[in-house]
Amino acid sequence: MKLLSLSLLLVFSLSLVEGQTKKQAVNSKRNTFVTKLMSKMTLEEKVGQLNLPSVGFDVTGPIVSQGVEEKIKKGLVGGVFNTFTPIAVRKLQEMAVNETRLKIPLLFGYDVIHGHRTIFPIALGLSASWDLSLIERTARAAAEEASADGLNWTFSPMVDIARDPRWGRVSEGAGEDPYLGSLIAKAMVKGYQGDNFDKNNTIMACVKHFALYGAGEAGRDYNTVDMSRLRMYNEYFPPYKAALEAGVKSVMTSFNEIEGVPASGNKWLMEEVLRKQWGFAGLIVTDYTAINEMINHGVGDERKVAELTLNAGVDMDMVGELLLKHGAELVKSKIVKQAQIDAACRRILEAKFDLGLFDDPYRFVSEERNAQEMMNQQKLNLSKEAAIKSMVLLKNAGQILPLNANQKIAFIGPLVKNQRDLLGSWSGAGDWKKAVSLWSALENKFGSDKLLFAKGCNLVDDEELMKKLNPHGAELVADERSPEKMIDEAVKVANRSSVIVAVLGEPFGMSGEAASRSMIGLLDNQAELLRALKATGKPIILVLMNGRPLTLEWEDKNLDAILETWFSGTNAGPAIADVLFGNANPSGKITMSFPRNVGQIPIYYNSKNTGRPLDVNQKYTSKYLDVPNDPLYPFGFGLSYTNFTYSGISLDQKEIKPGQKIEASITLSNTGKYDGEEVVQFYIQDVVGSITRPVKELKGFKKVFLKAGESKAITFTISNDDLKFYNANLKYASEPGEFKVFIGGNSRDVKTSNFKLNP
Ligand code: NOJ
Repeated sequence: MKLLSLSLLLVFSLSLVEGQTKKQAVNSKRNTFVTKLMSKMTLEEKVGQLNLPSVGFDVTGPIVSQGVEEKIKKGLVGGVFNTFTPIAVRKLQEMAVNETRLKIPLLFGYDVIHGHRTIFPIALGLSASWDLSLIERTARAAAEEASADGLNWTFSPMVDIARDPRWGRVSEGAGEDPYLGSLIAKAMVKGYQGDNFDKNNTIMACVKHFALYGAGEAGRDYNTVDMSRLRMYNEYFPPYKAALEAGVKSVMTSFNEIEGVPASGNKWLMEEVLRKQWGFAGLIVTDYTAINEMINHGVGDERKVAELTLNAGVDMDMVGELLLKHGAELVKSKIVKQAQIDAACRRILEAKFDLGLFDDPYRFVSEERNAQEMMNQQKLNLSKEAAIKSMVLLKNAGQILPLNANQKIAFIGPLVKNQRDLLGSWSGAGDWKKAVSLWSALENKFGSDKLLFAKGCNLVDDEELMKKLNPHGAELVADERSPEKMIDEAVKVANRSSVIVAVLGEPFGMSGEAASRSMIGLLDNQAELLRALKATGKPIILVLMNGRPLTLEWEDKNLDAILETWFSGTNAGPAIADVLFGNANPSGKITMSFPRNVGQIPIYYNSKNTGRPLDVNQKYTSKYLDVPNDPLYPFGFGLSYTNFTYSGISLDQKEIKPGQKIEASITLSNTGKYDGEEVVQFYIQDVVGSITRPVKELKGFKKVFLKAGESKAITFTISNDDLKFYNANLKYASEPGEFKVFIGGNSRDVKTSNFKLNP
């Protein structure tokens, strides 16, 4: 036995050494190649590599790139974004390869965010699955489609920690928790990039937005960020770092300022944190015109902001073209060192080398693969699976769900038949006409005569809001009928039913970029419809489609069930129908707290204690007069059609020393009628520290399937590494003392134990 494990160890070490030697050999080949190529390049050609214009229709900022083809031919473009399909990519790649002096191929980037052609649930929804392998598989599928569409670079994953649901971009990330966010970041990078770029179906990932983009003041997009370094290192940095550990090849800067310096010109952030402390050797690209926007931030004119960017160690300029305009001159006038341009150009060429573009610039251009990969059955199945696993059952009074198909059910709401919004934002290459609505899934399941329907209200009634959303593809058209008439009709239909399913939420454009809201409840017209339906006295199930935590106090109090489906993608309809009728049992858990009202924001479970913790009977304690402190639905919360109970938390030891481990166990029982999956969550609290520590921090979770009536012991292992944090000197270390352990089905309802870490 001993011999066997020794020889296994030997084989493992040998393959590790072999792997490393292979990597070194590739790196040295790459070095030689790039050095030789760069020796032939003029300063202007080097600066040209730093240029990333957009060619296509999906502009995400005020500037549209001009004259790109001419620039490509002059060697003044390093990559383009927004161009895809084999035909379009081949055309531009041919220009770069056949018509420039040095024949350097282009990078082709795009926002492949939650699927490319086949669309999966929005990232916030996917994160609610707590299913890392599922998330990795969606990223893999996205890479397969994107790479077959000529793309070799995606601007994903977005890993910005988000604690403010007013911010529209919470929909694009994994929520509020650094631990879960880090694991999801890794899974996505692995999904996109695979183990290496040997295959032509892996693409370069880009972790974004570095850094702290999710912490904009008041939840307003692009807004000022100001936070302590302690908070950065302990709470906001971990997911970016995790993406790096997973081997992400590129990083995108963020729009916001940090410590008074916009991220794209922030030398401390790029050189000190990213390069020096974390050892990142890949390429850094700015966000869309982020360099130009530094002028508005107030740190200088065009030339100055180009200088700041280059000297901060940023490599590539997305759309702004200021590096192209000023880069060479800044070197000539000795304001920027030639070495800075060389380093940036080298990293871009290295990325191209790694992607195999110098061997074959058309590696990702294949009509044949294109025909095979796009929206094939396997991907469509995955999109349904992902949609089901992302859904979160927020309320289910009296076990009203799943629905019995033999009753008369009224489906009411503007989203019942809707296809346009199912894909959510950032689904640029997705075709919403191919998305399956809930209604067509229901018709498929039951035939059309069995179902009752009324639209009930417009998705949006507010004309000003429509004016803001429609130019960006919302296609919101007000119904010819008056709001009163629509509600009347809905009430009549509801009266003929024994249960109402109201399908409401946000149009897709109300979350995503530049989609902050100051109030995050259902829109007034939708709320009015719900009140009218409530007056019928029929039970009501609310099916939500939206991109952020909403304030749902009235709905929680007055409705019987609430199913959060997010924008769940191409196969949203069939997935929702399966969940409503019990062909699938929901198992999602929210990854952002749902506040009771906007006044509670920012609200997150891993907060600090105060010196005067909440005591409702004492005046001078930390609380609101008008609302409890806790959210309506806490982080990690989500119900199932079955019941899970937790019992008998135990630790195998009560004291450890660094280097030792503790096992914490609990018995999970499925005491309900259905088989189901539960996300068992494991939190700790460092009770006393040299700096104050959060009241709870997620340190592990397991997604467990139990048949009805089954029980299982679930064990988590705690080691010294789980107890470490960045202290006042930004040193990452654990501190001896008492720790609490919490295990449960969400961050609020937990069983507790404790142990001691001895010096
Ligand atoms: C701006 C967004 O902030 C970023 O996430 C995106 O990747 C770029 N535009 C490119 O579309």
